[in-house]
Amino acid sequence: MKPRHFCARSLITFLPLFFFINSALALTTDAFIAEFIKNYDNQAFDEQVTLVKENQALIPSAVDNLINSANQPNLTFEEKMWFLNIASSLAYMNMHWHNDDQPLKTVEPIIKEELQKEQTRLAILMKWKKEERFIGNFVMKKNQAQMEKQGLSMVMYPHWLHRVMFECKVCHNSIFKMRRWENDISHQNIEEGKQCGACHNGEMAFSATDENSCDRCHIVGKPEAEHLHNPNLVKQESIKKAAQSVGAKWRPENLTDNRLPVDRFQFIDWLELKNKSVFAPVISLDENFKDEIRDNQIVFQSKSDFVGDVIFDHKVHSEWIRCDSCHPALFKEELGGNKIKMTEISKGRFCGHCHGKVSFTFADCLRCHKKSIGKLSADESRKENVLRRVEH
Ligand code: HEC
Ligand code: HEC
Ligand code: HEC
Ligand code: HEC
Ligand code: HEC
Ligand code: HEC
Repeated sequence: MKPRHFCARSLITFLPLFFFINSALALTTDAFIAEFIKNYDNQAFDEQVTLVKENQALIPSAVDNLINSANQPNLTFEEKMWFLNIASSLAYMNMHWHNDDQPLKTVEPIIKEELQKEQTRLAILMKWKKEERFIGNFVMKKNQAQMEKQGLSMVMYPHWLHRVMFECKVCHNSIFKMRRWENDISHQNIEEGKQCGACHNGEMAFSATDENSCDRCHIVGKPEAEHLHNPNLVKQESIKKAAQSVGAKWRPENLTDNRLPVDRFQFIDWLELKNKSVFAPVISLDENFKDEIRDNQIVFQSKSDFVGDVIFDHKVHSEWIRCDSCHPALFKEELGGNKIKMTEISKGRFCGHCHGKVSFTFADCLRCHKKSIGKLSADESRKENVLRRVEH
């Protein structure tokens, strides 16, 4: 009995139903629970009081059943608490109407324990989340137990530092699928020259088998990781040297004040870096790679009267990103063929697969909603490579 949605209806369908039994007749414990949940859900207080008053004998076993339901394996915290909250309100009413506090004494410590477990879980989660405070910095800890056994910190993968030297195309999708936890990254693979080992082999970048370099990747939580969270702490000269060594270019002399340009939310402004010719990343490690760029802009006409039209630049995106990172995984390759909604984007779908995780966040509304509604100039509209999209 695992409630997918937190409504009584879904739960009641799991219980044997005996609704035909008049409440004046004796109920089974299950039928009593079903009735109690129905009233709980409908906020039918009068019926609830009558039910509790007339079925005192069933209450201890009903509370026990609800606790057992909460203890089933694989329930989420919310699912557990749903059962426990019902048990607790039943136990509370039992104390009030029947002067018996035994069921309440059983359920309360269990609730306390669950809340404590959840707090511990959140604290651990917050610790990892904190290490991902800079956008695109991913903590890798799939093999956590083995790393801890060897006294190693978890691994940090900093997207931004690699973006300086490599376009997305270099890694996605030939070296890594563009989805977290789906690449089965391990040290064995790395030592065989796959994954991080495609570069971290002692030639292109420091080696993953060099005893002196372990801590450069196994760095999560150490003070030495600070430069990975704050690009302005990295010495321009060392970025320049690393870029040079892989065949990319980094020209700090084109920066203003020797600092990386950032947007309103402190994300690196990569387009500005490109426009100022500060960087020229490598496109592929494969000599036979055929680059493909689509030079047009797609206008998403706003369906809302308070935000402007969205302009999606195929050129900007396809210069960095391979077609097959987006098509068909994220978008059908068809003008107007995708039903894109802001709520879906904020859940990490469509544009939200990158924006908010690796690229600038959707909090920056105006970077996407660029044009006031219908205000694309006559000049722009006439251009052949501006496609007006109609969703179908
Ligand atoms: C040097 C290699 C490399 C480069 C370059 C690179 N990435 Fe990644 N990317 C990774 C790795 C590693 C992961 C994590 C894979 C895993 O956990 O299995 C990843 C994951 C992702 C994800 C998945 C996020 C999620 O929550 O599922 C996205 C999106 C992504 N990258 C976008 C980009 C974009 C956009 C660019 C270019 C601006 C880029 N990456 C450049 C290595 C790279
Ligand atoms: C396409 C090549 C490439 C791939 C793939 C790659 N890296 Fe790198 N990485 C580099 C280069 C080049 C540098 C800069 C090396 C230097 O500064 O000497 C670097 C630097 C780093 C740094 C910064 C170290 C420091 O001391 O500042 C970390 C951390 C890192 N990589 C982790 C990883 C991890 C983890 C993976 C795999 C998930 C990975 N890299 C995959 C090329 C790559
Ligand atoms: C280029 C970055 C990099 C360097 C350098 C590096 N590692 Fe790793 N290591 C990784 C990644 C990525 C993983 C997989 C993390 C995960 O579990 O999600 C990993 C995992 C491990 C694991 C867990 C077991 C396994 O097979 O995945 C051990 C043990 C380990 N590394 C030891 C070392 C030692 C020892 C060194 C130095 C000789 C070292 N690593 C250097 C990136 C690196
Ligand atoms: C960052 C993601 C992304 C990348 C990379 C990308 N596209 Fe698209 N593509 C889109 C979106 C978004 C649409 C619009 C879909 C819609 O209207 O529902 C689209 C639409 C299209 C369409 C129909 C409209 C048109 O332009 O004629 C074609 C064809 C297309 N893409 C081909 C490509 C090719 C070829 C590449 C590689 C050179 C590519 N795309 C790279 C996101 C991307
Ligand atoms: C596969 C990853 C990915 C997806 C999916 C994606 N973007 Fe981007 N987008 C990028 C990257 C990388 C840049 C470069 C700038 C940066 O990272 O800050 C960028 C830049 C932009 C920019 C600034 C450039 C410009 O044209 O002025 C806009 C606006 C934008 N994206 C809108 C969108 C919209 C709208 C969608 C969905 C229809 C979308 N993006 C989907 C990765 C992605
Ligand atoms: C990464 C690009 C991007 C960013 C950033 C972004 N949006 Fe959107 N937004 C879109 C796209 C794409 C659509 C779908 C356009 C369409 O067809 O209506 C959309 C649609 C909308 C809609 C129309 C209704 C709906 O839900 O589809 C509203 C309202 C909206 N956005 C508000 C916002 C607000 C407010 C912000 C800032 C908090 C924001 N957007 C930031 C890309 C973006």
